[in-house]
Formats: sequence, structure tokens, C-alpha cells
Amino acid sequence: GKPERQVAVFGAGYIGLVTGACLAELGHRVVVRDIDPEKVALLRSGDVPIYEPGLGDMIARNKERLTFTLDLGETLDGAEIAYVCVDTPPSASGDADLSRIWSVVKSLEGATHLKAVVVKSTVPVGTGARVRAALDAAGLAHVGYAANPEFTAEGRAVTDFMRPDRIVIGASDEATAQLITDLHHGVEGPVVVMDVRSAEMVKLASNALLATKISFINEIATLCEKTGADVEEVARAVGLDHRLGPHFLRPGIGWGGSCFPKDSEALRQLASNTGYHLQLLSAVIEVNNLQKRRAIQQLKDELGTLAGMRVALLGLTFKPGTDDMREATSTVLASRLLAEGAEVRCWDPMARPGEVEPWVSTTRHATPEEAMAGADAAVVVTEWPQLKEVDWARAAAAMRRPVLFDGRNLLDPAGMRALGYTYMGVGRP
Ligand code: UDX
Repeated sequence: GKPERQVAVFGAGYIGLVTGACLAELGHRVVVRDIDPEKVALLRSGDVPIYEPGLGDMIARNKERLTFTLDLGETLDGAEIAYVCVDTPPSASGDADLSRIWSVVKSLEGATHLKAVVVKSTVPVGTGARVRAALDAAGLAHVGYAANPEFTAEGRAVTDFMRPDRIVIGASDEATAQLITDLHHGVEGPVVVMDVRSAEMVKLASNALLATKISFINEIATLCEKTGADVEEVARAVGLDHRLGPHFLRPGIGWGGSCFPKDSEALRQLASNTGYHLQLLSAVIEVNNLQKRRAIQQLKDELGTLAGMRVALLGLTFKPGTDDMREATSTVLASRLLAEGAEVRCWDPMARPGEVEPWVSTTRHATPEEAMAGADAAVVVTEWPQLKEVDWARAAAAMRRPVLFDGRNLLDPAGMRALGYTYMGVGRP
């Protein structure tokens, strides 16, 4: 059978919205609560504050079962399951700041009809035990607890929720594990039940291993440059080993986004707090920082100096298919370039204006060609498919100096050189 549940989702951010919409799509009644009046007003008017393929349609077609509110009473009225989807940004010490989680837990006092509290936010291992204690102290000892981490990638979050590689449920007791398993009825993917601490660790370990694969191939790419090998060929063949797999072996100017930088740092700090220094992960993070500085150095070597040079950044978001600028490589490149005295021009089809303006003297253009006009160098930072359609011959002619740093190995080196570019890729001869 498929029991329909009444679910309260706390947080209308990325994860809360996707979770709320997908649970409604599965047939549950969902109330999403956020403390930001603007966001709630926007959602109530039928708008979606973030760009995520399929999400807007899903919210629209489930509006009978999916409501948005600022009001706590409305959120908890009849709620059987409370999903905590608030953000856990890094604090001054590098540990995750859990204050938003605590404020949600505090707001549950008196919701005695609740059956379970589920934390989806990424949290340090041991958080569940602390939430458990807080629930006990709040007179909610009979309410179950589960950790249910998300593994969704931006740009495919709805699909990742509905057809995941796995659903990880770390539960305090069997009844809660069953309740959360049943809640996912209709989701196509294996359910893996375990203890709470292990479930918390799965999330951090998964992201750290993915980041490790990228930093690893980036180091191999550097070595390819020094030895004349082609990292694209190397990655392709390495990835054919089924024990290694083809994914996350794309070299570039380093990983960014809302998860990898934050979660890898949080895991490193978590380890430090136990007195153990995670050596491998520390190197993974260091390689990622170096990768961006190396790119700037390569440009500097090619141009002689960066002072007074006009550089076009093509693509600003941390990956294509999103408007998310969090920890985007472009932000580091832009501020390094500006620090070196360069003039920065940029193009991106989706980055929201307010997120780019803080870069003083960075000028934004409507097309890649326009951003490249008169430039001394262009850098492909994000592999937007639009860049495949650029008239590269014309763009080269309009540049002051046709230097092209392809930070995503998006373009064909021989073809670009034939058009007159001084082409630099990552790990390609
Ligand atoms: C990631 C995880 O994939 C997801 O499971 C987790 O829940 C959140 O973090 P996301 O941040 O949306 O998702 O982006 P992802 O597509 O994984 O890319 C992360 C970064 O790595 C991007 O900057 C991307 O450009 C970079 N990357 C990815 C590479 O440089 N090479 C690769 O081969 C893959």
C-alpha cells in the first residue's frame, strides 16, 4: 500500500524545494516553511526562486498538495513527519554552523503528534545524536529520528530525487526506518538502512571521494602537460576500468559549487576535531586551490604580464545548467585577475546580475563574442553548450590578441589553432 503522509518541510532552499515538490509528487501532503517572507511570497504567487529543470512544473502540478508558508502553526498542523532542509554554512572555525537546525528543532516543541524528525541537511557526524537529545528534552522522546542525506546534483535534482542511485536512511529505530522507507514509495532506487552516524558519514564520504577523483585527474593533467601526454585520452581509458568508472574524471580549473568546497572542508574539520588529520582530503583541497592559481600563472606567462590586459571570462556559474555562483571558479579567477591589474570582461547566460556586480570593474556582456572583442585573452571557465556555437573565427579576429585558455577542454585544440588562436587546454599537449 501507499499511505499518504502529512509532511512539514523546513527550509525552501534548494534541497527543501526539491524535497517538498517530489514528496508532493509522490502523493503526500506537504507544507514548506521558510522564514524569508520574500521567498514565501514568490512561491505562493507560483514563482520558483531557483532555476532547476522540471521543478517549476512539478510544483505547479502539485499545488493541491503543496503549500508554502511563513507560519509555524500552519506548518505543524497535522504534520506527521518534519523534514529539516535548512542550510548549514561554515562557521568561523570551519565546522558547520548548525544554528538553523537548532532553531527548527526548538520550533517543534509541542508538536506531540509528530512521528518522526528527518534531517536532510548535510551535518557533521554526531549531529543526529544531539538532535535526539534535544527532542528528548523537549518532551518529544516518542518521536523517531532519521538522517536522510541527499545526493542530488544541481541541474538534475528532480531526477536524482525520483530515481536515485540509493536512498540512505539512518534511523534510531526500525519503525522510523520503515516510515521513511514507505514515504519514498514510488521512488526508483534501492533503500539502504543503517545507523544514524553512518548515514551522516555516507554523505560526507561520497562528496569527498567525488572531489578526490577530480583533484586526482587535475594533478594527472598537470603531469600530462609536463610530459606531453593527453589527459583526455588518459581519463577516457582509465575510466573504462569498471572499478574506477568514467565519472568525475573531467579535468578543469578545479571544482566549486555549494557542496564540494563546504562539505570537504567540514569533513576535514570534523576529523581535526577528533585529533586525526585527514591527509588525503587536505591534499585534495590544496590541489583544487592551486589549480586556479596555476591557470592565472599560465595566462601571465603567455601574456608577459596581466597588468592592463583585458581578459574575457566565458561562463561564470560553477557549472553549466545552473544559475548558482556559490564557490564558482570564476569568482576566484576574476578577483585574482583584478588584483594583478587586469581588466575583466565576462559572459554568462544564467548568472544572476546581482551576483556579478560586486566584482568592481567587471563588465558583463550579452554574448561571448562581445565579451571577447578587444580582449588579450579569453578563458572558458564554464562549459556552457552555447560556447560550442560561437563563431570562433570572427571572435579571434575581434580580439586584440587571440589567446584562448580552455579551462574545460571544451574545444578542439587543432581546430582552434588553425583559426589563429594561441590555444591552451588543461593537460593537453
Ligand atoms: C555535488 C554532488 O554531485 C552531489 O551528489 C551532492 O549532493 C552535491 O554536490 P553539484 O555541486 O550540484 O553536486 O555539482 P557536480 O555536478 O557534482 O559538480 C561539482 C563541481 O565539480 C563543479 O564545479 C564541476 O565543474 C566539477 N567537476 C565535476 C569537474 O571539474 N570534473 C568532473 O569530472 C565533474
